[in-house]
Amino acid sequence: MVEQIRVQGPSAGMKGELMIPGDKSISHRAVLLGALTEGTVEISGFLPGADCLSSVSCLRQMGVEIEETGPGALKVHGRGWQGLKEPSDVLDVGNSGTTMRLLLGILAGTDFFSVLTGDASIRRRPMGRVTEPLQKMGARIQGRSQGKLAPLAIQGGKLVGCQHLSAVASAQVKSALLLAGLRAEGKTEVQEPAVSRDHTERMLRTFGVEIGQEGNRLWVEGGQKLQAAPVQVPGDISSAAFWLVAASIIPNSSLYLKQVGVNPTRTGILDVLQAMGARIQLMNYRRFGDEPVADLLVESAELQGVEIGGELIPRLIDEIPVLALAAAVARGRTIIRDAAELRVKESDRLAAISRELSKLGATIEEMPDGLIIEGGAKLVGARVESYHDHRMAMTLLIAGLVAHGTTTVSGCEAIPVSYPDFVSSLQRLGANLD
Ligand code: S3P
Repeated sequence: MVEQIRVQGPSAGMKGELMIPGDKSISHRAVLLGALTEGTVEISGFLPGADCLSSVSCLRQMGVEIEETGPGALKVHGRGWQGLKEPSDVLDVGNSGTTMRLLLGILAGTDFFSVLTGDASIRRRPMGRVTEPLQKMGARIQGRSQGKLAPLAIQGGKLVGCQHLSAVASAQVKSALLLAGLRAEGKTEVQEPAVSRDHTERMLRTFGVEIGQEGNRLWVEGGQKLQAAPVQVPGDISSAAFWLVAASIIPNSSLYLKQVGVNPTRTGILDVLQAMGARIQLMNYRRFGDEPVADLLVESAELQGVEIGGELIPRLIDEIPVLALAAAVARGRTIIRDAAELRVKESDRLAAISRELSKLGATIEEMPDGLIIEGGAKLVGARVESYHDHRMAMTLLIAGLVAHGTTTVSGCEAIPVSYPDFVSSLQRLGANLD
């Protein structure tokens, strides 16, 4: 993928059908949890994005056999925790926070030594939220900043269950502790301030694990085994979000997005865009295993500003950059609160989005935990920067389709982290790129 892409705007409209690529969160879990089963997990619709491939390569370094049997089709030969072998080199998760945090939970309960690292962004991201509760469970983890920053060294060993009240609604924290809990003595309980994506719980149940749940509190008993079952990965609603916003804000657009995951812990973007006046229809509602799926038809609409915050935020956390673009061209003001987590994603997304959309003519004020966006902007092309953040790069390419003139987006090499076909799909829909 080239580093820099130029877009000529404004687009005269986007029309067509798109198959949305596999969900990144579910693809990670399919291989990571699949490796822990006792049997063969056949995966279809796997996302071949760089992040998910990091999970595959780390597992292979631990001796897990993963076969590619076709496009998006994998066979993971699980042999339980016993099947994992001490890696002979450092495990490199690249840009993937999910790989690092879920692996921490898995590695804590092995009987070997391992070291995890990643790219410059990963080495800045907070890991104490996972390493501290794992240490309470008896895990021996060391790293920079008293074990809060990667590289992290883990000496696996015996774990005991714990009760953990997480300060943040994070599926990665929750998942790491539930996975470690399966190897711990007794019960492990995690409570979060709001519900985060629940793909781990759904997949663990599919693999035969019993998980207790009361509201935002979840628990597992240690010693449970995972039984293999097939996994069909739905399309990623976080990837669909770019098209939902593009078709909404570019006049004369109509896009049909096929097989999008509509798990209620992920559909905040649909709720908010619909509240803003977007025309989105859900069709052919069905299930891929334990995950709900639908096709989405989105057509251009006049959007209005909204105020969002609280428990909605974890349900659309990754979509806030592209939502900020929708808000910038909507009528009226949008206020986004309670989103300080965006500062510790692949980039500081509150700073990045307000700085870069402002270069295109948007009026955005950054708050410590959110954004105030004055709508009605008439965007004009400019040079913008993605901070090596895949979701920033894709948001800015869509912004370039709305802006008048040439927008030059740098940092596009990050796009394949979650959406390898994004640029070719844009071209197929007639976007003027070079
Ligand atoms: C993810 C959880 C979220 C999300 C990330 C993927 C996951 O992060 O932002 O892109 O797959 O569990 P947090 O758990 O840090 O909220």
